[in-house]
Amino acid sequence: MTIDLSTTLGPAWFPAPIFTASGCASSGRELAQFFPLKNIGAVVTKSIMLKARPGRPTPRMAETPSGMLNSIGLQGPGIDSFIANDIPWLVDQGARVIVSIAGETVDEYASLARRLRSVPGISALEVNISCPNVENRGMVFACDPVSARAVIDGVRRTLGGDLPIIAKLSPDVTDIVSIAREVVDAGADGVALINTLLGMVINVDTMRPHLGGKTGGLSGPAIRPVAVRAIYQVHQALPKLPILGMGGVRSGRDAFEMILAGASGVSVGTATFGNPRAAIDIQTALGAILEEKGFTSLRSAVGFAHRNDATEMEGEN
Ligand code: SIN
Repeated sequence: MTIDLSTTLGPAWFPAPIFTASGCASSGRELAQFFPLKNIGAVVTKSIMLKARPGRPTPRMAETPSGMLNSIGLQGPGIDSFIANDIPWLVDQGARVIVSIAGETVDEYASLARRLRSVPGISALEVNISCPNVENRGMVFACDPVSARAVIDGVRRTLGGDLPIIAKLSPDVTDIVSIAREVVDAGADGVALINTLLGMVINVDTMRPHLGGKTGGLSGPAIRPVAVRAIYQVHQALPKLPILGMGGVRSGRDAFEMILAGASGVSVGTATFGNPRAAIDIQTALGAILEEKGFTSLRSAVGFAHRNDATEMEGEN
């Protein structure tokens, strides 16, 4: 039996359900030697800002139990170089491209959207309002409903109807559903769940914070249950809202879990550092699991864990 693995995130269609996670494969050049990028759903590029940025001081990474802490600080070449070099290269590979953008102000996000709106070959914008590695924690737009709404509203007004918007949300909030509602009201077509959780490692030999940036974003299998919970909650509240799920996925079963919770596509990030073929291997394994479970399409499995589920999560505590 051939399983239909195609999926949609709002108006954007993808032939396959596994994506890279922003930040874990830059613009895909290193991964392309391991598998054809066109064989996965899309490459989600490292969040790009208006100007080139060196990022935070080193060390920028720390191993943690079942996870990894990063404090990259949005290092990147800036939007002009990105548009000139990275997007054309990805298009040449036949890859679908989701461009992740990040800004320091609402206006910076809108300026990025203005620059990208007429660039050919982009399937959607991921609006990263949840980077944990910013100097000022007050700038994590996704941690405040008013700020989250303002960014997405500015991007949507700038784009008009030109490109789908996927708002990337933070798990570091009390009520992720309320943030999701705000960004959808402001014009997001979907949400990416979840960005990393804010964490910290102290080196007990030096007795100082290990990371140059002191705090960092926790990713890897340690955060997967948090991601599954967020996807489940948002799908339950907004069942028609497309969700790109991510957070600690390293097997076909992990990806399937996110699909059952309500994700229409799944991004693979940290697993790529150990196995650069992780995205394509997970996609193959997911197809086999769907077949084994008797599904004829990926789409028929989205949100399956909610079927006949009368239990309200809020009532379980
Ligand atoms: C970083 O570059 O600091 C990570 C970006 C993010 O987690 O959103």
